[in-house]
Amino acid sequence: MSSAASRPNVRTVASTQSEMTEIILPNDTNTLGNLLGGRLMHFIDITGAMAAYRHSRTHVVTAAMDHIDFIRPVHLGDLLTLKSSVNRAFSSSMEVGVKVWAENTRTGEIVHVASAYLVFVAINQQGERQRVPELLPESADEIRRYEGALRRREHREAEAARRKQAKIASADATASV
Ligand SMILES: CC(C)(COP(=O)(O)OP(=O)(O)OC[C@H]1O[C@@H](n2cnc3c(N)ncnc32)[C@H](O)[C@@H]1OP(=O)(O)O)[C@@H](O)C(=O)NCCC(=O)NCCS
Repeated sequence: MSSAASRPNVRTVASTQSEMTEIILPNDTNTLGNLLGGRLMHFIDITGAMAAYRHSRTHVVTAAMDHIDFIRPVHLGDLLTLKSSVNRAFSSSMEVGVKVWAENTRTGEIVHVASAYLVFVAINQQGERQRVPELLPESADEIRRYEGALRRREHREAEAARRKQAKIASADATASV
């Protein structure tokens, strides 16, 4: 693939890379002093949106957040670091990967606590979909994520079609009772 610099409207993965660090405060935690899952999803959404903004340079909305495993608990006082980048751009949508680590501020131990894939759609002020620039993967890891993003998009589309069929079948069954 030729370099992004020589092709207009083509962006590199590096140009989308984003990072956010938060200290976990009492308001972020449950009764055991662990970070709330919903709060973590909020941080993931925000960090993912940063990468999508950098790629599209327009407004974006979250269309989907894939399955997330909360691998390890995050404790009150930990430093949470989230890193994101665009994996692949399609027409108006972009798949973004977000990876999250927690750092124990006393021991310095850093552990991977969660990862997620999100899809953002670029829109203008009127809410109309906008075409996004092409993404050029460069490193072996970027190419692996780029190829994986197409497989995950096909999987999402198949799942959406399956849910639609199940809804129609359920409505038909209710109507015939
Ligand atoms: C996301 C949204 C803009 C899609 O609009 P739509 O009219 O359904 O759009 P389309 O079906 O024509 O799809 C547009 C793009 O979104 C993608 N998309 C739509 N729904 C999706 C979903 N559930 N998961 C992944 N991608 C999705 C499509 O693949 C398509 O991508 P492409 O242009 O790159 O090929 C619309 O559903 C929406 O506004 N949802 C609410 C978003 C929101 O409020 N988010 C939370 C706050 S930011």
